[in-house]
Amino acid sequence: MANITFSGLNMGKDITVYGTAGDTGTLLAIAKKHGIPIPFQCQDGECGSCLVKVTYLDDKKPLAISLSEKEKLTLSVNGKLTRERLEQAEVNDLPPPYRLACQYIVRDENILVEFTGDPGVEIDLRRPAKK
Ligand code: FES
Repeated sequence: MANITFSGLNMGKDITVYGTAGDTGTLLAIAKKHGIPIPFQCQDGECGSCLVKVTYLDDKKPLAISLSEKEKLTLSVNGKLTRERLEQAEVNDLPPPYRLACQYIVRDENILVEFTGDPGVEIDLRRPAKK
C-alpha cells in the first residue's frame, strides 16, 4: 500500500511503517498501532493537538483529499490553513501541508509525517541541516 515515515522531535530517529491494505483508518490510528507518539486529545478534529505536516513523496499528484468541514475550521483557527490553501484544496483538490492526524485517511501514497511531539508547542517543522 504505502510507506509512511514518521519524523518527530521526540523520536530518536525517523520510523517508516508500511500501510497494508487493511490499514484504512486515520493516520493517528496507524501511528498509535505502531507506538508513534503523535500527541492527541479529542480524536475528533476539534482540538488541533494532533497537527502534523504531511509531505507527499511520490512524483504523482496526491490522490483526492478528504478535508472535512471540521478539519478546515480547526486548521484555520490554528493559522495552518490560509484562504489560498483552502481554495486550492476545494477547487483543485490539492492537499494543504498541515493536517490533523485524527482526520487524515491514509491512502496508497508514500508520505512523510512530521510532528513536534508536544501539543503545547507551536509547530515549526523546518528540518535541521544535516551534518
Ligand atoms: S486529536 Fe484533537 S484534533 Fe486530532
